[in-house]
Amino acid sequence: MAFIGGVKMVLTIVLFLCLGVIRLEAQLKVGFYDSICPSAEKIVKEEVSKAVRVNVGLAAGLLRMHFHDCFVRGCDASVLIDSTGNNTAEKDSPPNSSLRGFDVVDNAKSRLEKACQGIVSCADILAFAARDSIVLTGAVSYQVPAGRRDGRASMASEALGNLPPPFANLDTLTQMFAKKGLTQDEMVTLSGAHTIGVSHCSTFSSRLYGFNSSVSQDPSLDSSFATNLTKQCPQGKSNASLAVPMDPISPNLFDTSYYRNLLVNRGLLTSDQTLMSSDTTAALVKQKADNSSMFLINFGAAMVNMGQIQVLTGSNGEVRRNCRVIN
Ligand code: HEM
Ligand SMILES: *[C@@H]1O[C@H](CO)[C@@H](O)[C@H](O)[C@H]1NC(C)=O
Ligand SMILES: *[C@@H]1O[C@H](CO)[C@@H](O)[C@H](O)[C@H]1NC(C)=O
Ligand SMILES: *[C@@H]1O[C@H](CO)[C@@H](O)[C@H](O)[C@H]1NC(C)=O
Ligand SMILES: *[C@@H]1O[C@H](CO)[C@@H](O)[C@H](O)[C@H]1NC(C)=O
Ligand SMILES: *[C@@H]1O[C@H](CO)[C@@H](O)[C@H](O)[C@H]1NC(C)=O
Ligand SMILES: *[C@@H]1O[C@H](CO)[C@@H](O)[C@H](O)[C@H]1NC(C)=O
Repeated sequence: MAFIGGVKMVLTIVLFLCLGVIRLEAQLKVGFYDSICPSAEKIVKEEVSKAVRVNVGLAAGLLRMHFHDCFVRGCDASVLIDSTGNNTAEKDSPPNSSLRGFDVVDNAKSRLEKACQGIVSCADILAFAARDSIVLTGAVSYQVPAGRRDGRASMASEALGNLPPPFANLDTLTQMFAKKGLTQDEMVTLSGAHTIGVSHCSTFSSRLYGFNSSVSQDPSLDSSFATNLTKQCPQGKSNASLAVPMDPISPNLFDTSYYRNLLVNRGLLTSDQTLMSSDTTAALVKQKADNSSMFLINFGAAMVNMGQIQVLTGSNGEVRRNCRVIN
């Protein structure tokens, strides 16, 4: 008995050691570039600051880009790949609607290649740039574990099924985030990203005009807010570049007004307002609306978790020379 118990224990220990090694290999590390490219994070930050100073909307663009990257084949910079003659890439799929900030990544990458050739992955640039972007608009800073490698594929066909649509209901959102290993609380927290940036009229106009056969406007939308939106997004005037701020109270400030808007039915997208449709998530919204420091700290932690989705590490993938092209 004692012998069998001993064997079991040894096997258990061996198993734990193996798991430990596997985990270590797949792990990202804060300060990954400290010895191999000490200026990496500084260069990204400088390029992001420069861009955001000229156009504050790029902060929202870079934040969203990291999200779209991580939700489609993991955080592997697949979102940055350009389409080629024989491949339509993620960025040319419908849900890309208006990704912006590609040039900022290119500028950072070309400086990084000069400073330390072949070392800093495009996927890590996106993770650093998302953090720097929101810090510039008022978020609390957080440390970004790094060591991601870049993927060698990007397919338009993979975007639609992995990125939640603006008309998603609470169950769909919860499931789509759970598939990526994120909790419902993290989903509610990360949705707070919509406190900055814009949405195009076409994305939500179905809430304003011809909602369904019995009501013309979405009844879950505050009517005075809806009136404002109809002025900004006139029916039939299909100007594809018309856009409105996601958070009209403080469009460029990373604060809790996104949640305060939801409490008064002023969430812009169906996927925003639906966070009020269950007691559990409504309580989370209220909590975040009431406690800014808690929201900001939770947001950084949720970003770190989002940033670990299906990452390539070690000798998997590659470090792209040009973020738009597979080596
Ligand atoms: C919960 C599910 C989500 C849905 C359904 C969703 C959907 C959308 C849609 C439809 C837009 C507007 C696109 C347009 O009309 O131009 C948008 C914008 C944006 N999203 Fe999300 N999103 C979600 C979660 C997230 C997350 C997790 C982040 C980041 C952590 C994020 C960051 C942003 C930002 C910053 C913008 C503004 C982009 C800009 O101004 O360029 N979103 N989102
Ligand atoms: C796709 O085209 C590129 C050049 O644009 C070429 O290098 C690559 O081999 C082609 N891939 C396939 C699968 O045909
Ligand atoms: C998004 O995809 C459309 C095709 O669906 C494409 O015309 C457009 O250029 C893409 N936008 C970006 C920013 O890549
Ligand atoms: C229209 O939407 C409202 C609000 O969601 C709903 O109560 C109503 O049943 C819908 N009507 C039809 C015909 O689908
Ligand atoms: C509607 O727009 C007016 C004028 O811009 C603004 O003062 C008001 O706060 C807005 N109301 C809502 C509910 O967004
Ligand atoms: C469409 O809207 C954009 C942004 O408001 C504006 O710059 C552009 O001139 C408009 N185009 C047309 C054809 O109305
Ligand atoms: C806000 O949340 C933080 C962190 O969870 C907590 O320490 C603090 O007491 C909360 N503040 C209020 C006013 O509830």
